[in-house]
Amino acid sequence: MKRIAVLTAGGDTPALNATISGVVARANQLRVEVIGIIKGFNGLLNPEVPHVHLNPLYATIPELDSTLGGTILGASRDYISSDDKETTALAASRLAKLKVDGLVCIGGDGTLNGMQALADLIPVVLAPKTIDNDLGLNYLDEQDEWIRDPDTTHKKGYQYRMRAGREFTLDEMVNYVTPGFATAVYVSASNVQRIRTTAESHRRIAIVEVMGRDCGMIALGASYGQPDMILVPESPVDPEPLVNKLVSLLDYQKHAVIVVSEGIVDKDGLPYGSVSASQDPSGNFQYSGAAEAIKRLFVKELGNEFFTRKRRNESADAAIFIRKIGHTQRGGRPISFDRYYAQQLGGKAVDLLMDGQHNVVATLQYRDKGFYLDSCTANSLRDRWGVIHARPLSKKFYDSKRFKPSNLGVEYLHSIFHNALSEGDVESGRSLFDSAHLHRPFHSVNVDINKRIHRLPVE
Ligand code: F6P
Repeated sequence: MKRIAVLTAGGDTPALNATISGVVARANQLRVEVIGIIKGFNGLLNPEVPHVHLNPLYATIPELDSTLGGTILGASRDYISSDDKETTALAASRLAKLKVDGLVCIGGDGTLNGMQALADLIPVVLAPKTIDNDLGLNYLDEQDEWIRDPDTTHKKGYQYRMRAGREFTLDEMVNYVTPGFATAVYVSASNVQRIRTTAESHRRIAIVEVMGRDCGMIALGASYGQPDMILVPESPVDPEPLVNKLVSLLDYQKHAVIVVSEGIVDKDGLPYGSVSASQDPSGNFQYSGAAEAIKRLFVKELGNEFFTRKRRNESADAAIFIRKIGHTQRGGRPISFDRYYAQQLGGKAVDLLMDGQHNVVATLQYRDKGFYLDSCTANSLRDRWGVIHARPLSKKFYDSKRFKPSNLGVEYLHSIFHNALSEGDVESGRSLFDSAHLHRPFHSVNVDINKRIHRLPVE
């Protein structure tokens, strides 16, 4: 292979540029040209295929900085459906016009599903990214646990659910952890820690909502901020023990901090709180309202009087406040763990392509208390109907009685975070107060990348 393409698909993460850097660095060593496709699969749906040469003369362009969050290539949630043969053929022919021999897609489970269409026409490899940490399997045969029921409300026509899983050890996990997750946890846990002092001082209940869709990994990681309880989508909300625990916390410490994952569900598996009607192009529901629903539950169960009399707040509404960490958890500079492993996985994806392995995923594995690079086939992540699902947070990682990580959950988090920050991260914190920030306008990397974008002529 003399020339490959790379694209970043799905929601952005802080480690995307680090992965692209890893791709380009390895390609430079192998004397392979790298073409970056602008805006993920959207770039291939555009006849002009806006693209950037990322390593002229096998030297990485200066705009590609692995410490910069987001992606200099831009991202979108557009995908190519395997059923749409015409669009798939068009996208492949556009890659052929760019004279690329292979494609690295940087993405998560949605991207891997989207990549399948192209996999029959051009060598493709996935370099993983996701803040949700839901790409992979808890154990090798986990995809066999999926059951599906017809559901016309869902774009994909079915509702999928998983049978109770078996016991497993950490080194059985396929794709142990994905770049983007560590930084999202760092931001979430720091926010939980900061919110604590206000809740404590004003005797309030803070409900902090974190992202993660149907996977409670970020909520689990937010435990580093020492919340009193965490609620995850994999464990349906049971109002009674939740309210009881809140009451005892209030009696004891006069305040509480609760982390709520955006995708929490009720006992019927339905989203707790409202779900916006919209689904993104890959068919994912867009959640909103989990924290509000938990607040409503507390107000309903305890009543206004509980707060005004016993807690001496003006009202239940004033006593409970909600904060959503939102997109800050997937923005900004990646922490050391993400930077390092994202680059490694980018390089691994190139090696896989060069090695003639395609429709595979570069993975980060864990064994004997250490990480190593490996790969798995896209097929090994599919269920019996061929669907690649988001990996749920294993029930073995969560103690639903204590609303906290289980012992195995603690062990899992420790393996990732005990050494996740470096001095460089501390130094970058200091740079916030660079006085130049006050008089120099923000300079977007998009401006510089725009000058490098080429387009194919359209007949
Ligand atoms: O998959 C990453 C993620 O950040 C989820 O945690 C979240 O639900 C979703 O993307 C938000 O998507 P968007 O930024 O497109 O609204």
